[in-house]
Amino acid sequence: MSDFSKRALAIQPTGVRKMFDLAGDDVISFGLGEPDFQPPALAIEAFHQAMLDGRNKYTTTAGLPALRSKIAETWSHLDSGIDENNVCITMSGTNALLNLFLTLVDPGKNVLLPEPYFPLYGPDVTLCGGESKYYPCLFDNAFVPTIEDLEQLVDEDTVAILYNFPSNPTGGTLSVEQRDELLDFAKRHNLWILTDEVYDRIVFDSEHVSFFGTDYDKVMLINSFSKTFAMTGWRIGYILSSNLEAMKQVIKMQYYITACSNDAMQHAVLAAMEHASDYPDILSKEFHARCNLIVDRLNSMPGVECHRPKGSIYVFPKVTVPGFTSEELAMELLRDGVLCSPGTAFGPSGEGHLRFAFTISQDDISKGMDLVEGTLNRLLSQ
Ligand SMILES: Cc1ncc(COP(=O)(O)O)c(C=O)c1O
Repeated sequence: MSDFSKRALAIQPTGVRKMFDLAGDDVISFGLGEPDFQPPALAIEAFHQAMLDGRNKYTTTAGLPALRSKIAETWSHLDSGIDENNVCITMSGTNALLNLFLTLVDPGKNVLLPEPYFPLYGPDVTLCGGESKYYPCLFDNAFVPTIEDLEQLVDEDTVAILYNFPSNPTGGTLSVEQRDELLDFAKRHNLWILTDEVYDRIVFDSEHVSFFGTDYDKVMLINSFSKTFAMTGWRIGYILSSNLEAMKQVIKMQYYITACSNDAMQHAVLAAMEHASDYPDILSKEFHARCNLIVDRLNSMPGVECHRPKGSIYVFPKVTVPGFTSEELAMELLRDGVLCSPGTAFGPSGEGHLRFAFTISQDDISKGMDLVEGTLNRLLSQ
């Protein structure tokens, strides 16, 4: 008999971290999806000021009403009826995800999850005693699932489907027509839609297409300030839903997870939203330039095919070197000074792919791509 719960023993560390832990300091890192920017300076000042002003206490479980109102305002173009009661502040998108799975998934029930995936989804479902059923989001369909694949997986024990657009790791995004098909599928089977939209403000030359604000009332949106305001270490995110009954359950659950989120930090995020509201657009512009740079470089290399993402901070090229798995390729690249993630860190259909996060400067991207090109030329001429 083990000293530890079956739950703890059932989950494993993620493959992304595994590569990261093997890398030295001198590599060019396309590894972690962490923007290389700092939060707006005025938000850092607001954080300091909030602490000086005594904002060092518990807040209400759902978070500061002013911040929740501000968040509701940013989504009101999609549903004019929402207000602070439709928002629960969480301690990160990661926390929001766990909250939602705990709120919806009973043992014996299952959830449809994308594959390749953000590696936390499956283990979260496992922690709730549920089963993960993975639907493919493949290169050949621009990383968008097909309704046929979804129909084959869904059964009477399916309680929810998670969508993630723009996607980590693929960079996949949706058209309005594709969104509507995926929405109809969920409606037909009476599933909750959990929509992870943490990259909603990092979209290129197009409008973000959201599952929020449609006529379906079983939608819960996960969001975070980590990427859009470069605040990964601040750990602030939120859950948004037009469904007040769902919000009641989510807020109750949040109490038992963290009681509430950081007091001073919430004031700082509010300051960022009020006084640096264009900051995500500035970041997005830079990510767009980097995205074009890395896609152009990758597509000029032997053995590589890469879609041009319309959002996110990732590319997920197909890289074919006969005799090498994606993990072996990632190890070869690491030896030559480049850290990236093997596609299989995000599920079995990631085989044949590598994930590059373009969270480094354009100069470093160019240097890193020179190294990748050198490695591929060497391996392909052997
Ligand atoms: C798709 C996706 N969802 C959620 C998160 C969690 O973000 P955070 O916990 O930093 O808010 C991430 C972070 O990488 C992500 O890529």
